[in-house]
Amino acid sequence: MSGWSNPLPQPWMNYAMAENIVTIDGPSGAGKSTVSQMTAAKLNYTYLDTGAMYRAVGLKIERAGIDLADESLLQALLDGLDLSLVAEGGETKVILDREDVSGAIRTAEMGMIASRVSANHLVRKKLTALQHQLGRNGSVVAEGRDMGTVVFPDAKYKFYLDASAEERARRRCQQLREKGQEVNEREILAQIVKRDQDDSSRALAPLKPASDAIIVDSSKMNADEVVAFMLRYIDEK
Ligand code: DC
Repeated sequence: MSGWSNPLPQPWMNYAMAENIVTIDGPSGAGKSTVSQMTAAKLNYTYLDTGAMYRAVGLKIERAGIDLADESLLQALLDGLDLSLVAEGGETKVILDREDVSGAIRTAEMGMIASRVSANHLVRKKLTALQHQLGRNGSVVAEGRDMGTVVFPDAKYKFYLDASAEERARRRCQQLREKGQEVNEREILAQIVKRDQDDSSRALAPLKPASDAIIVDSSKMNADEVVAFMLRYIDEK
């Protein structure tokens, strides 16, 4: 079981720890979660889903009805944040204030809300500190938007997983159909394009590849092929 609660701000990590960190950044729907979980399982590392953390904070802010501009209320909410990621049978459960919100945060709407709250400096400061804390405690495969650029700039292995917006929309529609949901392909594509634009144009920790990241275009590769490529790179480096 891995988890954390109310960590103190941590000093910057040292190089030795960065040897055990793999970062996987990229836009929504590029297949980061599948590939990160598979890579973590192969390496026996902890999988750190930082998007889930932003989604959980987004849910908490949404439920509390707090205006992001009200910084004292927002800071109080963040100070009281009780968030943990619990590895269970190959899945990661997201526990917010002792409630399992793993299902509640996995909607397209929560993705947009997470994207909005993630541009806030207080939210980023809080979650970056939590992510450092977890990175310091062991070997991790950290998935997100700013893992290689901001949170773990000293990570030894950095990847940026990309795919065309059309291919990402196609995959997302397929996933939703498999869950029995009706999908509007144009709407899903528009959401993906909007989220990419918002995530990459924000001032704080925007989505972009680290200068030393290996860029992997997964448009024509399946998850097994991407993982095999990454493991080979890690092995050879
Ligand atoms: O990966 P995801 O779709 O679960 O992420 C949801 C949103 O959270 C994403 O649109 C932007 C934000 N996010 C971020 O700003 N930084 C991260 N490291 C991870 C996610």
